[in-house]
Amino acid sequence: MLVLVVSLWSCSTVSSLMSKIHMYIQNGLGPNNTLTVHCKSKDNDLGEHSVDFHQNISWSFTENPFYTTLFWCRIWWYDHHRLVWVHNDMFDSSKPDQDMGCMDGEGAACCIRRAQWDGVYFVQWDGKFKKIYNWIRE
Ligand SMILES: *[C@@H]1O[C@H](CO)[C@@H](O)[C@H](O)[C@H]1NC(C)=O
Ligand SMILES: *[C@@H]1O[C@H](CO)[C@@H](O)[C@H](O)[C@H]1NC(C)=O
Repeated sequence: MLVLVVSLWSCSTVSSLMSKIHMYIQNGLGPNNTLTVHCKSKDNDLGEHSVDFHQNISWSFTENPFYTTLFWCRIWWYDHHRLVWVHNDMFDSSKPDQDMGCMDGEGAACCIRRAQWDGVYFVQWDGKFKKIYNWIRE
């Protein structure tokens, strides 16, 4: 099951099953830099969304029992009219949690990804951000 909405949850106030995941993709690029995000899984196409600076898009889902849930995204923006992008995995059930980087919420994992000028960062268990992908610059 998947629900795409604009941030109805926060990481710490959720109470649900353990396999519930809340995903966030934040724009940390800087003023006036709009990010575009297009995420998919095998069964869902979340569509293309614009994310302003300091905003995020979010969605939630329940991991499938076989731990094969995978979401990947194309994320792009323009640095002085030049395309900057990545197209890669944002959540992968089959990988150890520390690799994909999520935080424990109350009953749900909270997976925050943040676009910054030098790459895409994933939040870790301790709340710190770690760079996972470098941008490809055209
Ligand atoms: C962002 O855009 C606004 C409106 O166009 C402009 O007034 C402002 O100076 C811009 N800020 C930066 C940091 O470029
Ligand atoms: C996502 O954006 C909403 C609305 O601006 C904000 O309330 C929420 O704190 C943000 N959450 C994250 C994890 O970035």
